[in-house]
Amino acid sequence: MNANKMIIREVEFGGDGYREVLAMRDRLLRVPLGLTWSQADLEGEAEQLHFGLYDHDDTLIACVVIKPLDEHNAKLRQMAVDEQYRQIGAGRRLIQGVEDILKQRGFRCIKMDARDTAVGFYRKLGYEIQGDVFTQVTIPHFRMTKVI
Ligand SMILES: CC(C)(COP(=O)(O)OP(=O)(O)OC[C@H]1O[C@@H](n2cnc3c(N)ncnc32)[C@H](O)[C@@H]1OP(=O)(O)O)[C@@H](O)C(=O)NCCC(=O)NCCS
Repeated sequence: MNANKMIIREVEFGGDGYREVLAMRDRLLRVPLGLTWSQADLEGEAEQLHFGLYDHDDTLIACVVIKPLDEHNAKLRQMAVDEQYRQIGAGRRLIQGVEDILKQRGFRCIKMDARDTAVGFYRKLGYEIQGDVFTQVTIPHFRMTKVI
């Protein structure tokens, strides 16, 4: 499968696309940690940007949420690729495509709290660690940033 042929779509908060993405986030990011959604997790999502990566037959492959912090800065959160599509460039395609969209909208810097297991992935995409390790949702994380 060619990740470059996958399509990035912004999904509307509260719609069918959002519900599909939310189910994927739950399955890939919450259930493996024995966690479920709390109201606090989803608070503010109406003001955030939701993106899905889709195959040509509309299968959802990966997702990510962008929280605008101010005019130029955004926080990347809830990044996940379906297990059966990992290591084929889908994550890179989604992040790079979303970076292009954010650049066009005037954003200049992306920050995130990255799981330690994903730091190597983000490094390959140009993100740099800032500061020390900290614990979030029970696992070690690092703050990472990139000027886009
Ligand atoms: C981390 C994750 C998003 C990577 O997505 P992916 O589609 O498998 O990554 P890609 O295939 O686009 O990989 C791009 C490059 O990063 C490397 N890479 C991928 N996952 C990596 C990891 N966990 N650690 C180090 N390097 C990694 C790939 O080998 C590839 O390197 P190359 O260019 O030298 O070939 C995916 O494994 C995932 O969803 N994991 C579970 C959820 C998660 O941890 N999300 C991040 C929360 S902060």
